[in-house]
Amino acid sequence: MRPSLICSAVLALVACSAADARFPRGFLFGTAVAGFQVEMGCPSTPRAQCEDPASDWYQFITDPALLADQSLHLNGDAPSSGPGFYQLYAQDLDLAANQLHSNALRLSFEWSRIFPSSTVGIEGFEALSAAANPQAVAYYHSVLRAIRARGMRPLVTLNHYTLPGWIHDAAGCHADLSSCKRRGWVDRETTVNEIAKYAGFAAREFGGEVDLWATLNEPFTGIALAGYILPNDQRTNPPGVTLRFNEAKIAILAMMEAHNRMADAVHANDLIDADGTGRPARVGLVYNVQPPEPRDPGNPRDVQSAKDLGYLMNEVFLNGALRGDVDAALDGHTVHRDDLAHRTDFFGLNYYVRAKAAAASEPLFPNDAPKLTFDPSTLELIGDAAGLTDALQIARGYGLPIFITETGIGDESDTGAAAAWIGETLSRTRAAISQGVPVEGWFFWTLMDNYEWNHGMSYKFGLYAVDKGDPAKTRRPREKAIAAFAAVAQSRLAPSR
Ligand code: FCB
Repeated sequence: MRPSLICSAVLALVACSAADARFPRGFLFGTAVAGFQVEMGCPSTPRAQCEDPASDWYQFITDPALLADQSLHLNGDAPSSGPGFYQLYAQDLDLAANQLHSNALRLSFEWSRIFPSSTVGIEGFEALSAAANPQAVAYYHSVLRAIRARGMRPLVTLNHYTLPGWIHDAAGCHADLSSCKRRGWVDRETTVNEIAKYAGFAAREFGGEVDLWATLNEPFTGIALAGYILPNDQRTNPPGVTLRFNEAKIAILAMMEAHNRMADAVHANDLIDADGTGRPARVGLVYNVQPPEPRDPGNPRDVQSAKDLGYLMNEVFLNGALRGDVDAALDGHTVHRDDLAHRTDFFGLNYYVRAKAAAASEPLFPNDAPKLTFDPSTLELIGDAAGLTDALQIARGYGLPIFITETGIGDESDTGAAAAWIGETLSRTRAAISQGVPVEGWFFWTLMDNYEWNHGMSYKFGLYAVDKGDPAKTRRPREKAIAAFAAVAQSRLAPSR
């Protein structure tokens, strides 16, 4: 008899309910980091190696005109404020494996480190290999080897927001999106082609060390919204322009295509079953789900606008990228594209907030976004660990295995808020699994304080604190949060609720 059946028969037995609260065998417990956010800021490795000036985000946070532009909400921290994982990765991985008892780590490669110069016109693995930066390739091999040597499985995100400068001129496009030369996702064909080539190269080069791949990170909220529609004090992304719906729509379509072309490229090039699971490559999309709710559940207009909010935030991109049902005009009408359907192996769920809003008296952008029927000035993003249950239900609708690729909360003083978040999200994950939601892993954002995009080092989500003013970039444990994480990761038992 399965343990859950035995348990329901003798519910009163503590030992039994503890056994039932185990996570499934092979469940991944880890932390998530991203290349741009952690690599730079090395204590002693020369800057020329540690820093990567070749990305649009590097330009975004160092260009004087952009730094002076209040609309971008850049806090001004230099790239060298970061935690220096490029140099300190071995000790960070020791913490992840030995203190946290993680069995996995989610990390990302910087496309611009691997290919600092254009790959346009370069075809085939050999030619791409000759064009790749050998130092960057060797660095990522060392990191992957170090992860695996500590008994952890890597989940590699190929693109966590940043684009190479040869693809995207962040400053030029911020100044004038219509006439800039390298327009990133708006140059749909070039960017899709080149990112697919990069994905294929990475899969062939690193496939012997990686079986779990993610293509893009948060394409809708992170890139389309924060880049082209509503950059705001919470999040901006290059080029950081406002209400450019036409370009946003092109970028959205480009990212739907990119995800699928990257997935195909990874499947074609990673033929090595590194983890012995029988599958050389599983490829997912990482998506930030924000369960919607009406400001006033008794008001039918609020209820309808919350549905529209959910459609825009959660469904448009996923329907296109995962099922091939593309709503290119963001108006609710879809056209099916077989080349975008069913090529994805897992859903990477990022969960931080629920979204609550009231209806606008009339749609603000009836031509550009008729489904935007909520009033953006009423939008509240509510950090609530309990919302993970709804987020998992939304993700489940896509019929794929799910990895929770990020969830977390900033808790600089280790008040217990992060520990509580960990406990709550893990027990909700366990409850969802017992109801048949196929969750295979949970990653906490994040291992150590890092460069939190436009907030620089001022937002602190790490299990380990890092101070930008400390030349050694010492990692200081946040004990309560670490204890909550390690207790579950070590025992694989879900905390009780
Ligand atoms: C997510 C991003 C991640 C980090 C967390 C706090 O939206 O994917 O890089 O910034 O937020």
